[in-house]
Amino acid sequence: MSQVESKTVNSDAVNYELIETPSANKVAVLWMQNPPVNALSKSVRVGLIKHLNAAIADESVQVIVISSKQSLFSGGADISEFSGGDLEPNLPAVLDVIENSPKPVVAVLNGPAFGGGLEVALSCHYRLTFASNKVGLPEVNLGILPGAGGTQRLPRLAGVQQALDMIVSGRPVAADKLPGVFDVVVDSPETLLTSALAFCEKVIADGSKVRKTCDVKIDVSSAPKELFAQYRQGLATKARGFFAPERCIQAVEASVELPFAQGLIREGELFMECMRSKEARAQQHFFFAERAASHVKDFDKETPVRDIKQVGIIGAGTMGGGIAMNFANAGIPVIMLELKQDALDKGLALIRKNYENSAKKGKLTAQQVEDRMGLLTGSTEYAALCNVDLVIEAVFEKMSVKQEVFKALDAVCKPGAILASNTSTLDIDEIGEATKRPEDVIGLHFFSPANVMKLLEVVKTSKTSPEVIKTTMKMAKKINKVAVLVGVCFGFVGNRMIEGYGREANRMMLEGGTPEHIDKVIYDFGLPMGPFTMGDMAGQDIGAFVRESRREFIKHDPSYCILADKLVEQGRVGLKVGKGVYLYEAGSRKPIPDPSVLELAKQVAADLGVAQRDISDQEIIERIIFPMINEGALILEEGIAAKSSDIDVIYVYGYGFPVYRGGPMQYADEIGLKTVYDAMCKYRDELGEHGKNWFEPAPLLKKLAEQGKRFSDL
Ligand code: 3HC
Ligand code: NAI
Repeated sequence: MSQVESKTVNSDAVNYELIETPSANKVAVLWMQNPPVNALSKSVRVGLIKHLNAAIADESVQVIVISSKQSLFSGGADISEFSGGDLEPNLPAVLDVIENSPKPVVAVLNGPAFGGGLEVALSCHYRLTFASNKVGLPEVNLGILPGAGGTQRLPRLAGVQQALDMIVSGRPVAADKLPGVFDVVVDSPETLLTSALAFCEKVIADGSKVRKTCDVKIDVSSAPKELFAQYRQGLATKARGFFAPERCIQAVEASVELPFAQGLIREGELFMECMRSKEARAQQHFFFAERAASHVKDFDKETPVRDIKQVGIIGAGTMGGGIAMNFANAGIPVIMLELKQDALDKGLALIRKNYENSAKKGKLTAQQVEDRMGLLTGSTEYAALCNVDLVIEAVFEKMSVKQEVFKALDAVCKPGAILASNTSTLDIDEIGEATKRPEDVIGLHFFSPANVMKLLEVVKTSKTSPEVIKTTMKMAKKINKVAVLVGVCFGFVGNRMIEGYGREANRMMLEGGTPEHIDKVIYDFGLPMGPFTMGDMAGQDIGAFVRESRREFIKHDPSYCILADKLVEQGRVGLKVGKGVYLYEAGSRKPIPDPSVLELAKQVAADLGVAQRDISDQEIIERIIFPMINEGALILEEGIAAKSSDIDVIYVYGYGFPVYRGGPMQYADEIGLKTVYDAMCKYRDELGEHGKNWFEPAPLLKKLAEQGKRFSDL
């Protein structure tokens, strides 16, 4: 619209521009400008109402346009305002002014529109955008539903089924897949403004008609009762534990069953129900936690970032292969190093098989498979790594082996190359001592399967430079990982906190709990599977291997995972051999309870003098989850994690902790730290030696509980 005459008036977050078109018509354009995502904060809402009223009052204005010059049309309501304050005018009030404007209001979506942003567009009389532009109603991911008419207007424009899909899944959709929503969809964003102006001229020529979405009749026959019943059924497992999805369905149902005005009231009631839920608090906490993970004090804007153009990976085993795929997927060449050619060939062949499986599922084209494989080369010579910018070591978990590798890397890698280890437990400071450049050494702890799991623990040593930390955290984003910065200790944050989880599950089996009961309670709590199913799937021998390396730490407790150790001694190492804590039929992953395991528990308990009894659901949750939280408190006290929300991000992305609980630390904040502290004291005092050994509350937990504070207050 720059080629025409214009007059601009600035408001805080909405810029008002009066444009005279070539046919001497006047169009008022309201440019929303509230970086970084054009959230519809109070200043934007005030600005929109002020300028809408001005445009309506100005007799020369014939059409009003709402658009933005930012990269997004709008990221929706300002989530940081959800905690309260003076929020007038609210978003529905703004949309009322738009929809009831006597002059046509045209939304020109120059970029993505989410949540309230799309709701603004839906309340306009006309909508224009470009084909690939993404729009969506992702409120469900924040534990709420679209609360500014989205559940009533989208079904009227997109159809009930499409609206249901978008609102319940929260997934964005490209504009060209929404013909009912957009009046004009141009091919590219470059031509959008010219087309918008031509469209405004046409609206004026046609008599400047307003066309309210609320007046559109829903085709009720397209939304029979069964549609909603089927939808609920299909969603049952996926939405397990979440509060908002069912309310989203009810709101869309209301759009079919009620007149618009009543539908809006119903939407408002359901919105408030969601907003007051603990799930919404948790999911909104997690939204900010994920973003806060990248805000670290270890570097600032001035800290330089190194270029990562080529990567070396040592070890083409389970982890090395998965890690390599992340870089190839991002278009970064990788050189893989193995001791022997056959191990290298095996590793590369496995990567190819993984890609080909993705291609079979239609996720990649044959060409993409070749392109990615083309970025992967192999070598058995360290000299091949002389030019790489980053090396990630993923060899056997043994200090002497790792140090040998790092010594060799130090000798061949160019100055400035970052030397990283994927160790899960070893002291990375000690690994760095094998080099003459400990400031370039860092831990990059990927989770298995490394090409799938989103989490990356970035482990700084006492010597890692800010530049190396910043470079690796930025690199994580490039390979589509969520990076959380942590410090060195055994198991870092995630694996250190999980220790109590397996330990208490095993101990409760000794005390009379059944594996299927314990697993069910933890599954119902929201984890993807219970501790015994998980142990069998990962291999009970892996757990035994880790325990072996921790003998010093656990030797004072003769009952420590004793049942798991005995099962491993009997060769019952889990799913891979058809028997572990459970039995498995050939080719099946379904755990079958085995009475002989309970018999073994009874015997061992008698030998150790442990009394068997019934264990309640509540005790199972408290004894499995609270020690994790307690360890989290120690981790915060020691500065291994900088903030409690970082721990939550690690647990949701690395261990499947339910996002509707926000992570273990948010869960503790929600139920109250005094509840956690009191339960820790109770088990310490009631479980004899076991209690004394493992349930001493962390000093930080005690302090915060006494002060009535939360981890998030730190
Ligand atoms: N409100 C407040 N702050 C927001 C925000 C929002 N809607 N969306 C993003 N932000 C903040 C982030 O916290 C981050 O802050 P930081 O720099 O201090 O960490 C900053 O904006 C940039 O965000 P991202 O790093 O996520 O930026 P990206 O460019 O990667 O992604 C985005 C942009 C796709 C818009 C993404 O931010 C996003 O998904 N935002 C949330 C969208 C959403 O859920 N909208 C619905 C809101 S609820 C609603 O509209 C209710 C209504 O129905 C009444
Ligand atoms: P793996 O046994 O599957 O692979 C290790 C590979 O390293 C083998 O192919 C081996 O031939 C190769 N190798 C050994 N010594 C070497 C050397 N000196 N030079 C070159 N190659 C060498 O092991 P995995 O599971 O991939 O683990 C690797 C590392 O990743 C370990 O430190 C482990 O603790 C860590 N890790 C493992 C996770 C898992 O779930 N498997 C998760 C996170 C970290």
